[in-house]
Amino acid sequence: MPRQFFVGGNFKMNPITRESKLALAKTLNDAQIDPSVEVVIAPPAIYLLSLREVIRPDVKVAAQNAHYKPNGAFTGEISPAMLADAQIPYVILGHSERRTLFHETSDLVAQKTRAAIETGLSVILCVGETLAERESNKTTQVIEEQLKPVVDTLSEEQWSKIVVAYEPVWAIGTGKVATAAQAQETHAAIRAFLAKAVSPAVSENTRIIYGGSVTAANCKELSKQLDVDGFLVGGASLKPEFVDIINARK
Ligand code: G3H
Repeated sequence: MPRQFFVGGNFKMNPITRESKLALAKTLNDAQIDPSVEVVIAPPAIYLLSLREVIRPDVKVAAQNAHYKPNGAFTGEISPAMLADAQIPYVILGHSERRTLFHETSDLVAQKTRAAIETGLSVILCVGETLAERESNKTTQVIEEQLKPVVDTLSEEQWSKIVVAYEPVWAIGTGKVATAAQAQETHAAIRAFLAKAVSPAVSENTRIIYGGSVTAANCKELSKQLDVDGFLVGGASLKPEFVDIINARK
């Protein structure tokens, strides 16, 4: 069965007003969206429930982070149990901003991933190399090291709840998108790793999406690549062109 195309919008710490949040919802609500695409938007936690109330039902809402414990003395955190209770179906984990700015290790990301899945959530699991790592030909090694703790902690069945987002750090928010060939090469390497480390079925069925300076102008070419199953969009998800990215394969 072909993998369903997936487009996520990661709003990061935007927008800052209720009005701009409503404007983003209106853009999506009024748009003609390819019904074959799974669309998920990830607003800041404070907007999760209010955005869910106003957004069209075929667009899902995701959290940008979650703790691994169900509850407790963890000031400022949100638990996977709370997200599940609020019927938020997805959470983004392992984003490079969390890894770099908030010092999240791959072991912690794996722990969070397992907790989220065991609580009933699906996970957009982000991996990606820095420019220095790419230039020293370490891209595949770095990504495998990021994925390995997740492979070690999940059962084969639990991989049906994962979407892997390949986001080269050097492409995030820089306007320097990976070429279609670079994206395809790395996505194929991730798929090969999943085949070897988990199973051929998981490799075949897991969606691997690309993130990093995706725009309406570059999404079509990227979307034609065999192993590119969609996008995780940052900056452009706050603009009307997000609709064009969702419809990249139309
Ligand atoms: O999660 C999304 C990525 O960090 C991509 O962000 O599209 O602004 O480069 P960007």
